Amino acid sequence: MDIKWTDDLTVGVDAIDYQHKELIAIIHNLLKAINRGDARDEIEKVMAFLKMYVEVHFLMEETLMLNINYPQDKLLEHEAQHAQFWDTYDELVVIFKKDHCSPVLLDTIKNVLVGWFANHMRKTDKAIGVFIKKGGKDTKAYGY
Ligand SMILES: [Fe+2]
Repeated sequence: MDIKWTDDLTVGVDAIDYQHKELIAIIHNLLKAINRGDARDEIEKVMAFLKMYVEVHFLMEETLMLNINYPQDKLLEHEAQHAQFWDTYDELVVIFKKDHCSPVLLDTIKNVLVGWFANHMRKTDKAIGVFIKKGGKDTKAYGY
């Protein structure tokens, strides 16, 4: 399973959709680099970039949810899913340290990481867009 942008992933908030496209591109590059058997430090760079980008992205989403008065229970659930991502990322780092381009690493990224993103974008992130639309909120007013 590779990861590709498809229109059904659209959340409807420009900043989120833009960053999701970037995230997909980074993960795609990571898969390609591992598949090619790139050097350890090259793959390490992509992993570090993914980590940094995800940190920025989660912070942006979480700030947006606070700004639009997103329901507390949904906000907490969303944040819990973000925290779960870091557990997955930590697992990847452990596998990466053993062998930077093993089939196990590739499989874990494909099955666990890609699976997490696909599920999270389709359901949890999409709910933000639905909430904004229903409430007629203007995210541009918050700079999104
Ligand atoms: Fe999210």
